[in-house]
Amino acid sequence: MRNIVAGALVALSLSVAPVWAADIVIKFSHVVAPATPKGKGAEKFKELAEQYTEGKVKIEIYPNSQLYKDKEELEALQLGAVQMLAPSLAKFGPLGAKEFEAFDLPFLFADKAALNRVTTGEVGKALFARLEDKGILGLAYWDNGFKIMSANSPLRTPDDFVGLKLRIQSSKVLEAQMKALGAVPQVMAFSEVYQALQTGVVDGTENPPSNMYTQKMHEVQKHATLSNHGYLGYAVIVNKKFWEELPADTRGQLDKALVEATEYANSIAQEENDKALAAMKEAGKTEFHELTAEEKAAWMEALKPVYEEVAGRVGADVIAGIQKAAAGN
Ligand code: LMR
Repeated sequence: MRNIVAGALVALSLSVAPVWAADIVIKFSHVVAPATPKGKGAEKFKELAEQYTEGKVKIEIYPNSQLYKDKEELEALQLGAVQMLAPSLAKFGPLGAKEFEAFDLPFLFADKAALNRVTTGEVGKALFARLEDKGILGLAYWDNGFKIMSANSPLRTPDDFVGLKLRIQSSKVLEAQMKALGAVPQVMAFSEVYQALQTGVVDGTENPPSNMYTQKMHEVQKHATLSNHGYLGYAVIVNKKFWEELPADTRGQLDKALVEATEYANSIAQEENDKALAAMKEAGKTEFHELTAEEKAAWMEALKPVYEEVAGRVGADVIAGIQKAAAGN
């Protein structure tokens, strides 16, 4: 009897299964809004991956921390509950890959070209190799852009930071950065930041304009400084076992889709941020400050000690390697 019921259930499920049912499902979880460089990159990957595999692979995207918050999504990837993520490079510390926090060093990259020399070169590859014993494969670097600093009071000189509670990602380099400015850093999941700013649990934060705008942070921050003091980028990562067990032809198609989605994501990042900044200026809730040359020099001076302070954690060799590659040497 039990067999019959089971059989009937199987038959029923087969009869309602859509003819296009995919053989393989990849859950891609992330914490930002769909209308961001990362959100759009994920959509592009889905479109191309489903096209190239002719529907054999279905990509399910879960944006806005719908499935998991920052720390949980990394655990979920290792456990195989999701197959693909694109966490910011600032979030790899809890995984034991502290080297990635080097990307958070203040004023590390003069411009995007310097950044690209690092991520597309040997240093980028060597960093990905450090993920493998954690059951993770690094497949691509996606750009977001340079961060701006926001609060409810103007942030022109390091003195303006003293005593402010500022939300950061889990990176110890960001913790050292905020402390060097005299602020009190507070680690918090991205999905909780808007409310924390709104209720005054924290006074301010840092992020590129695309994240600030799509989370409506500008509605609860009176001031922002266009400091571009730090970088925010992502590593597209997958569960290693899952990826390596894919049929070789399918994996090749997915790799091709990812190469193209990466080009796309990186090509729109700056424009998305420019548009977000323009939209926030238009909204008129936040006053945006440009740093004068002297103000910028004061920030750089205050932040210089961070390099020495974190060298033991992220590796002096890693920092030197990034600086060398960034300079094009
Ligand atoms: C943050 O947590 O501030 C950002 O890294 C979120 C993201 O993924 O862009």
